[in-house]
Amino acid sequence: MTNVPSIVKPKRVPREELHGKPGKEDPATVDSAGALVVAANREFFDQIANKYDRYESCATDVYLQNILEKDLDTIQARLSTLGRTPDCLDCGGGSGNLALKMLARGWTVTVVDVSGAMLALLSEKARSRGHSPRLVHSSIESFLREARQVFDVIAFTSVLHHLYSCTSVVRQAATMVRPGGFFYSNYDPVVPKRPSLTRAFDAMDILFAKVKFDVSDVIPGITRRLKKAFTRRDSNFRRRLVTAGDLAEYRAHAGVEDAEVVRILQLEGFGIIEHARYPAGRTKAIRFLNERFRLLEYFKVIAGRNHESIATTKASQTRTSPVAASQ
Ligand SMILES: C[S@@+](CC[C@H](N)C(=O)[O-])C[C@H]1O[C@@H](n2cnc3c(N)ncnc32)[C@H](O)[C@@H]1O
Repeated sequence: MTNVPSIVKPKRVPREELHGKPGKEDPATVDSAGALVVAANREFFDQIANKYDRYESCATDVYLQNILEKDLDTIQARLSTLGRTPDCLDCGGGSGNLALKMLARGWTVTVVDVSGAMLALLSEKARSRGHSPRLVHSSIESFLREARQVFDVIAFTSVLHHLYSCTSVVRQAATMVRPGGFFYSNYDPVVPKRPSLTRAFDAMDILFAKVKFDVSDVIPGITRRLKKAFTRRDSNFRRRLVTAGDLAEYRAHAGVEDAEVVRILQLEGFGIIEHARYPAGRTKAIRFLNERFRLLEYFKVIAGRNHESIATTKASQTRTSPVAASQ
C-alpha cells in the first residue's frame, strides 16, 4: 500500500519568533537574535530549495553520501537488538537527504524543518517512493521544547552550524533520545585553526562549486560579495548582512565546537561510538587539497545513550545548564 505523506503543522514557527519579538519561554524567541537566525534560515532555504539537491554537496556528493550510509549501517547494527521499528527524528531534515535513507531501511521517521519549501520537496520524493514520514513545519527549537516524545535516533545533518544556540539544541535533543538510542550529527564545519586561510579557501571552493553546479549564480554571487564589501557590519551579529544566507549560515565560518558537542553528550549519559573530523570540499579538487592541508574539515559524531542514563537525565540537565546558550 502506498501511504501518502502529510505535512502536519501543529507546531508552526510562532509569528513573534519570525519577526524577532520575544515569545513566552521559547529559547529561540526569548532571545530575539536567535529568532532572527531561525527566520533567516526559513527565508534562505525557501529561496534555494529548488536548487538544493543539485547544488549542495552533502546531498549529492558520492563520497559524502557513502559516509552517511556507512554511519546508518553502524547505527542499524546496534539497533538490531531493539526488536521493533526504530522511531527516528531528523532535525532540519530539509529535502530528505538523511530521512529518505532512514525510510528506505524501514524506520519510522519524523522530520522537523523550518522551511516549507524544503519539506514540500521531501514530501514529493517520499510519496513517489511509497513512504510516509511525519513532516513537521517548525523550528527545531520550538519542536524540541514542546515535544513530549522520546526517539530511538535523533539526527542532524548539515544543521548544527545553522543554529543560533547549537549547544542548547544538542543538549535538549540528547535528553529526548531513549536509553539505548542514538544521537547522530554530521556535515558541520569544525572551528578553523587558521580562520583567514580557511575563509579564502572556502571562497575558492564556493566559486568552483558555483561554476560546476550553479553557473547562472556566478555573476550574482560576485555582485553580492562586492555589495557586502561596501556594507557596514551589523553590530549585533558582528558581520555584514546582505542576504538571508549571511545569517542562516550562522556558524559556517566560525565553525561548531565539536569537543563541546561531545562533552554535552557525555554529560547526558552517552558513550561516543565515533567522533571524527574529515576533509571537506564541495568539489573533488578542493577536497583533494584539503586532504593535505586540512583547511576545511567537517566533523561527525555517533553516540549511544547508556541504558542507565534515565535516572541521571535530571541531574545532568542541572549540571550542564551553565553552558552558554550561544556558542
Ligand atoms: C543545509 S540544510 C540540510 C538539510 C538536510 N539535513 C541535508 O542533509 O541535506 C539545513 C536545513 O536545516 C533547516 N533549518 C535551519 N535552521 C533550522 C531551525 N532552527 N529549525 C528547523 N529547521 C532549520 C533548513 O530549513 C534546511 O532545510
